[in-house]
Amino acid sequence: MVFRLGGDEFLVICPQTDLAGSLLVAERLHQAIGALKVPTGDSHWRGSTSIGVAVRTPDMAHRMRRLHRSRFQCSSRSRKVGSPAPMLAAPLGRAELVGPYRDSCPQGDRPSQGALRRRIIRAQSSVMRLRNRILTGVLALAAFAAVSMAFVLSHDSPCAAPDSLPAGTQGMRAIVYRCYGSADVLELEVIAKPIPTDNEVLVKVRAASVNPLDWHYMSGTPYIMRLSSGLGTPAQTRLGVDFAGIVEAVGQDVQRFGPGDAVFGARNGALAEYVVVREDGLLVHKPPNASFEQAAAIPVAALTALQGLRDKGRIQPGDKVLINGASGGVGTFAVQIAKAFGAEVTGVSSTRNVELVRSIGADHVIDYTQQNFTEGAERYDVILDNVGNHSLLDTRRALQPGGILVVVSGPKHNQWLGPMTRVMKATLLAPFVSEELPRLFTALNLDDLQTLGELVREGQVTPVIDRQFALDEVPEAIRYLGTGRARGKVVISLE
Ligand SMILES: NC(=O)c1ccc[n+]([C@@H]2O[C@H](COP(=O)([O-])OP(=O)(O)OC[C@H]3O[C@@H](n4cnc5c(N)ncnc54)[C@H](OP(=O)(O)O)[C@@H]3O)[C@@H](O)[C@H]2O)c1
Repeated sequence: MVFRLGGDEFLVICPQTDLAGSLLVAERLHQAIGALKVPTGDSHWRGSTSIGVAVRTPDMAHRMRRLHRSRFQCSSRSRKVGSPAPMLAAPLGRAELVGPYRDSCPQGDRPSQGALRRRIIRAQSSVMRLRNRILTGVLALAAFAAVSMAFVLSHDSPCAAPDSLPAGTQGMRAIVYRCYGSADVLELEVIAKPIPTDNEVLVKVRAASVNPLDWHYMSGTPYIMRLSSGLGTPAQTRLGVDFAGIVEAVGQDVQRFGPGDAVFGARNGALAEYVVVREDGLLVHKPPNASFEQAAAIPVAALTALQGLRDKGRIQPGDKVLINGASGGVGTFAVQIAKAFGAEVTGVSSTRNVELVRSIGADHVIDYTQQNFTEGAERYDVILDNVGNHSLLDTRRALQPGGILVVVSGPKHNQWLGPMTRVMKATLLAPFVSEELPRLFTALNLDDLQTLGELVREGQVTPVIDRQFALDEVPEAIRYLGTGRARGKVVISLE
């Protein structure tokens, strides 16, 4: 008879027989149901006329159904149905009769207890072997999938040849890349000039700017981003996002813009002589007090700074705000935007950029070659971290209790995940610390672009431009940006 003791523990009883008999039942039961974890005599129960053996098997109910179809099925014809149940239930307290198995009770010669144990151990080993084989198979499959995925993600296909321009098509110059790699993969080509549809605006680009984002797209790193940017070769062959220029033509439904308007915005493929943008896309009028180069410097970097400080950092007037990486494209906007929100701003930069950071309004500047801000006594309400060169635990030490560390970037040396490793660490750490560790993914948002245009128009923010390059010098510009030493924005001028 088999009694459920609770969970996956069962008691096998051979009424009016001894331990060896019950062990034999347990073994047969094991052969019938295919799993038996504790078939030892140590866990036996001795009643007045019977001896039981405890067995443990997962998913017993399912296996019992199989058992009912097996030769151990005893059915209600058993003479011993239920007879030991009261005896067992009392001392065990939680025993529940699962089923009587009269046929399993040995009647004739029985093997010795040692022989039974050996047979049980042999049976157990075969089950373990089967389990190990299944586990090994699953692990091998997972490893194969991971290696295949790694190969597919990191594989660089050769550059395809440029398409020839159909006869009679009006052309324009644009930066194109048809494979991943260094800045050498960037080509200045003549491609078809876009024609605006009814709700589109054609802009003659006067200036564009480059961002670390362009460098990531060009190199196809971290590899994980190729899931969206294209496996082997880039899905989009055009580079650049930020631009400023003059509207050359508009579709017949366009209301907000007209030919001759000075505009700036964000659009894939901005490193070109022309772009088309939907009227409701990322396009706003250029502040009159900004040059095309300054306006082109705004979109990605300034949106990052604004959303990092206002939305993620929730900065308030009087807050103590630290900008790590204050002299770069994002940092130079962040210092000025934080000041515009009335914060007390500390910028972190190298020695050569201390004066630059001070000149754009920082109240304090920490030269990171002289001082590690995570080890100082000062505590900040908000830290905007554009670098990620200190551990999250160290960086949060510089926060006031309940302060906010906005994770904008992280180290790039991991080819597979790049800055995502820091984002993942922050996600894992966040539930266990009292400070907030929000991660920022910049949204290309029209309202925010208009807000930034206003801040520039009011003179509260002035884009900082480091170097300017011509369109055919984009590879050089991207190489310079890739050094990580830019001071403000790197701009492409198409004047
Ligand atoms: N999460 C997002 O959606 C998002 C959006 C935009 C940008 N980002 C990321 O944000 C980061 C900053 O972007 P960016 O456009 O500002 O890049 P960037 O212009 O290339 O930044 C260069 C600046 O970083 C500074 N820097 C380098 N090491 C530093 C350190 N240890 N401490 C302090 N400053 C240091 C450099 O100053 P020194 O020469 O003085 O060292 C340089 O001025 C990039 O990693 C970018 O990928 C993320």
